[in-house]
Amino acid sequence: MDRLVNKRILLGVSGGIAAYKSADLVRRLQDAGADVRVVMTVSAREFITPLTMQALSGHPVHTDLLDPSAEAAMGHIELARWADLVLIAPASANLMARMAHGHGNDLLTTLCLATGAPIAIAPAMNQQMWADVATQRNLLMLQEKGVHVFGPASGSQACGDVGQGRMLEPMEILQAAAGVFDHQLLTGKHVVITAGPTREAIDPVRYITNKSSGKMGFALAEVAAEAGARVTLIAGPVNLATPSRVQRIDVIRAQDMYEASVAAVEQGCDIFIATAAVADYRPVVTADHKIKKSTEEVHLTLVKNPDIVAAISAHSKRPFTVGFAAETQDVVAYANAKLINKKLDMIATNDVSGTNVGFNSDNNALTVIWPDGHKVLPLASKRQIATQLMELIAIRYRQ
Ligand code: C5P
Repeated sequence: MDRLVNKRILLGVSGGIAAYKSADLVRRLQDAGADVRVVMTVSAREFITPLTMQALSGHPVHTDLLDPSAEAAMGHIELARWADLVLIAPASANLMARMAHGHGNDLLTTLCLATGAPIAIAPAMNQQMWADVATQRNLLMLQEKGVHVFGPASGSQACGDVGQGRMLEPMEILQAAAGVFDHQLLTGKHVVITAGPTREAIDPVRYITNKSSGKMGFALAEVAAEAGARVTLIAGPVNLATPSRVQRIDVIRAQDMYEASVAAVEQGCDIFIATAAVADYRPVVTADHKIKKSTEEVHLTLVKNPDIVAAISAHSKRPFTVGFAAETQDVVAYANAKLINKKLDMIATNDVSGTNVGFNSDNNALTVIWPDGHKVLPLASKRQIATQLMELIAIRYRQ
């Protein structure tokens, strides 16, 4: 059920005896890795208390449209934007009618109008109410609007009737909710990205490093998370905010980046992208104290750092492996050599001799090369380049 990892689910609960099952649904969504916030209608609160849902979800339950304290914490528009999926379980006949006709007379229906996220309902009602022509018409209207409808199931009902109208079981709703995210490019995939420079200490105040802002790797992490992936970002020392839903591991030395990368791959990684500008060498010894300016010459002996991306592509649990190459001359020839020598699936290369691309710039242009093809991604923002590159990676990964 990786498809629900990091997903933000706004669980709407309307009035009906099946509301007690929503408590279990909260747990199951959380177990699948989702972040759950609960909104309850007035009648839902007759069946299950907001306190129960608050205790289970770990967040205050939203109940009223015009509640100043709730609005101060997370306003209804913010909540509507926050959600990746609005899941309403149970959805009563009354709620379906109000949704179908575009009402916004309480918090839940207002959220349905205000969200850009997909909406799914798990109807639950008496079999006669479900079969009623008005309910069926509303159902059709909701389906035409693109609302996903999970169930209802047939069977014996709380009122003693037998027929269609039972809410699906929480496990079935969970599976159907995961299916909503199936279309995403990287749903369920674990993407590991190295970014930024590494620092190799000479003494407590001096170090060897490479020029790198980390912006390209962070942009890729953001785009991968938006495409549904679980993202681990192994970052050298950079001054950048962690993109939302990305698990960040901060490292300093190449050796630490290497160890964190191998550990992430051993956990199970589908795609590894090495954007980091790793220091090729480190001092053999790091002085315990600041080295004094006592002599005219100082000689540093350096030793090679592990090649992280080459180690990952040689790993027994080898993921789809993508390297980067920043060059100042013969860009494509050098990149091709690295693709072969490091046994990569793909390499993204850029010419950093100019000032408008690479390193600290917000823009980039890449030539992306794989064993039997290449594509030029012309100058654009790092975010746009990251989106295009991630699409290429996802396509090649699936082949
Ligand atoms: O050999 P070069 O440093 O030019 O190769 C660049 C590519 O290899 C980048 O993807 C970089 O992140 C990766 N690399 C690495 N570990 C190193 C050196 C480079 O993962 N020690």
